[in-house]
Formats: sequence, structure tokens, C-alpha cells
Amino acid sequence: MTFAMNILCIGAGYVGGPTMAMIAHKCPHCRVTVVDLNPERIAAWNSDELPIYEPGLDALVKATRGRNLFFSTEIEAGIRENDIIFVSVNTPTKSFGLGAGMAADLQYWEKTARQILEHSQSSKIVIEKSTLPVKTALAMERILNCRENGVHFDVLSNPEFLAEGTATRDLESPDRVLIGSREDARGLKARQTLVDIYAQWVPQERILTSNIWSSELSKLVANAFLAQRISSINAISALCEKADADVAEVAKAVGMDSRIGAKFLNASIGFGGSCFKKDILNLVYLCRHYGLDEVADYWESVVKINHYQQERFLRNMLDAMFNTLAGKKICLWGFAFKANTGDTRESPAIYIAHRLLEEHAEIVVSDPQALKNARLDLAGETGKISYVEDPSQAAKGCHAIALLTEWDLYRHLDFEKIYETMAQPAFLFDGRNLLDHRRCYDIGFNVYPVGKPPLTHF
Ligand code: NAD
Ligand code: UGA
Repeated sequence: MTFAMNILCIGAGYVGGPTMAMIAHKCPHCRVTVVDLNPERIAAWNSDELPIYEPGLDALVKATRGRNLFFSTEIEAGIRENDIIFVSVNTPTKSFGLGAGMAADLQYWEKTARQILEHSQSSKIVIEKSTLPVKTALAMERILNCRENGVHFDVLSNPEFLAEGTATRDLESPDRVLIGSREDARGLKARQTLVDIYAQWVPQERILTSNIWSSELSKLVANAFLAQRISSINAISALCEKADADVAEVAKAVGMDSRIGAKFLNASIGFGGSCFKKDILNLVYLCRHYGLDEVADYWESVVKINHYQQERFLRNMLDAMFNTLAGKKICLWGFAFKANTGDTRESPAIYIAHRLLEEHAEIVVSDPQALKNARLDLAGETGKISYVEDPSQAAKGCHAIALLTEWDLYRHLDFEKIYETMAQPAFLFDGRNLLDHRRCYDIGFNVYPVGKPPLTHF
């Protein structure tokens, strides 16, 4: 079968896989191939057990795979055979050399650019899907267009705004799609090609076009703003605990102001996920690079408050449980960085588990999707750790439950039964303010929410 357009995506991760599945679904005239250097990941994409858990993704992949969606490890052939190439490789924080711990590590990105150059025999549109420092497209263009052989590359920026757990919904109905390009004739033509792909299902008014640097920067800024809201409400949660105010009531009152808005004001144990921290640190690094130290300090404080919130949660546990956790069994409800994903990258649960083990507590980790990743994350820890999928079983014999991920299933458990099986006095630390605190208190728990007065029997 011949297709009107051949699209390649390099990088079959949390972004590459779902994004390309949606394009294949909405554009049956396009042949979409996703390649990755990790053969196990590709094998999983080609199996019944996809490498990531994401509601709605199984159905999407089943409907398109083998029809116009293909997963492969043949990167070089993919580059040769496709005219439009998305690059969605990982861009973690640099762990060595200049900018270590702050700047983006662009080694995977540059390797990909060189590979594209090496194996291209015709002109192509190359699209930055990964989140990158502003001006990366310039480096990409310089590498790609360094040869004078008639093969030309147009570089576009098309950052991805999906959130894990709601990826298929976000991709199907995005708030906006952003496409940045050079604004000369070639750049505008390439931009239009990508606009036409998204226009198959995204309303025109939601397809934003801009200059390429604005597009690159907007992605970092969007994540910084979202994370800043969480750090703002988390900072206020600390004050609420001192002032006997209720952070949920404060968030509601503040969020009803239409200029502020109600979303992303849930106080918590802090934000996790692979991107917020890395993207803010990247922004901070860029600001320092340009000599904007005050701006850098401002954004860096968002990450500092996030760390403070995680440590504060641990200290509240220690405080409540008579200043010692040694030998006590603590059950962790949830390990994923948020609900509806098995992803644990930068999950606050990793830090909290580590700190509990440092205090010589014994931990029982429970999560409906993330136990495999939790085992890997905690592999280097010393201390007593067990993994139990069923949350009620996991809590058996424990002195405390710490709810770390807002899985809906935790709302619907038999709390009377759970309470009876626990060591007394039983503690419940709700790091997501998910549960019915009054009810749990009435059953007998000593309940410690975030940013609300505790409900205790002492
Ligand atoms: P990921 O680690 O899940 O996937 C990246 C994939 O790229 C991996 O499978 C890796 O093997 C592959 N890869 C690396 N170098 C390669 C190469 N040279 N050739 C072929 N494959 C290669 O990462 P992700 O979560 O999908 O994130 C990708 C990018 O998208 C990052 O820049 C991230 O900041 C951004 N982003 C992520 C999310 C998210 O929710 N995870 C959302 C928006 C944007
Ligand atoms: C986030 C952004 O929401 C996406 O737009 C962006 O594309 C993505 O990062 C990225 O660039 O990787 P994601 O990290 O998947 O998406 O999930 P979010 O829903 O943003 O949650 C991030 C963290 O903040 C989670 O740990 C979540 O529990 C926490 N959070 C969120 C709160 O603590 N309070 C809130 O009110 C909202």
C-alpha cells in the first residue's frame, strides 16, 4: 500500500509512542514509523503488553499497529525512507561537566542529528518534539545543513504538552498545538506541512504558529508556570498547618477568581515526573547563562520549595509518631509520581521511601501499576522493603499508612477492616488530601492531611 506521507519518529518513549499512535489514528493517509535504539522497548510496543501504562493507549495502538503504525529498531532505514522526522529522544539533566545538575544533556539529541545527516539521501523536515533549551534548533540546523550536497533540512519546533495519565485525551483534544519555524519562505512551507497534519483533527484556532525560539521557550515556560502553581500552594500549605487554616478552602477561594483559575492548586507531597524539575533547572541555567541571576533565583525557588515540601511531609510523620520511626512498619500507598501511570521518574515517593529507610523504618510499597519501577528505584537502598500490590494487605500490621499517589482506588477501600489489622495507634498521612478524613478519624485513625489541621485522638 502507498501512503501520501511517510513520517518517522525517533524515540519510542512516553511521548513518541502515544503521539505517533494518535497521528496514525487521525491520519490514515500517513505511514508512521517509530524507531528506538532500545530493542526491548520496541518489542514491547509490538506486543500485547505495551511498555507504558496509559489509559486508552492499548486500544489506540491496537487499532493502528500494522495498518499505518509501525515500531522498529531500524533507525537508519527509517531515516532514509521518511520525509518528515520527529525527534522525541530523552533530554535529561546533565550529570557531568559544565552545567552538571542544571543544564540539559543534549548528547542523545546531537547523536540523533548526526545520524539523520549521515543517512539522509533527500531533503527532510526535522521536528523537535523533545523539550529543549531555547536555540537548540540553531545547533540542529548547523549540524544538519553543514554539507553542500543539495540535501536540505528544515527544522521545526513542535513541543509536546501532554500529561501522563491523560495522554490520549490530551493528544486527541489538545488545548493548543504549537509549531515554531523560521519565518522565511522555506520555513513557512515546512511549517504548513505540519499544520496540515494536525489540522486533520485539531481545530485551526488551536494550532498556534510562532517563531522557532518562542516555541522552544514556551515549552519550558509552560512547565515552569505549572510547577510554580504547585509550589505556591504547597508553600501556603505549610502556613495553613501553623494557622489552623485549610489549604483546600484557601485554594477554592483563591481559584474562584477567574484571573487565577482553579486548576493545579492541589497541595501535595510535591510534584514529580520526569520533566518539571529538569525543565525548570534548564530554564534556570539559561537565565544564568544570559546573566539574569535574579530571574534564575526566582525560578529556582520553585524547585527548592518542592524539595522542602517532601522533607516537610517526612518530618510531620516523624513528629506525629513520637519522634521515632525506627522499627516501625510504614505502608506506602502509591509510588507512581501521579495517578494513572506506572511512571515513577522523580516521584516524591522515591525520596520519602529513602528518608523513611534512613530513619530505620520498615516500608511496604503498594501501587497498582508502578511496583516494577519501584523495585528498580529502590534497588540500591538498604533496609527492610517489601512490595504488596493489594493496598489492604499491604497495610496489615503497619503503624502508619502514607498515601503518596492519588489513585482513585484508595477512596473505595474498607477502612474499618484496614484499621483493625494495623498496629495501634494507627496513623494515616494523606499526602494528596484524597481520603475522607473525618470518616477515617471516626474509625480510629490519627489523620494527618497536607495543609489542614490534623484529626487526632490524643
Ligand atoms: P523516554 O525516556 O520515555 O523516551 C525516550 C526514548 O528515546 C527512549 O526509549 C530512548 O531509548 C530513545 N532514544 C534515545 N536516544 C536515541 C537515539 N539516538 N536513537 C533512537 N532512540 C533513542 O522520554 P519521554 O518521556 O518520551 O520524553 C521525551 C522528550 O519529550 C523529553 O525531552 C521530555 O522532556 C519531553 N516530554 C515528555 C513528556 C512526558 O510526559 N514524559 C511530556 C512532554 C514532553
Ligand atoms: C506535565 C505537564 O502537565 C504537561 O503539560 C507537560 O507536557 C509534561 O509535564 C512534560 O513536559 O513532561 P506530567 O508531569 O505528566 O505533565 O503530569 P502533571 O499532571 O503535570 O503532574 C506533575 C506532578 O505535579 C505530579 O506529581 C502531580 O501529582 C503533581 N501535582 C499536579 C500536584 O502536586 N498538584 C496539582 O495541583 C497538580
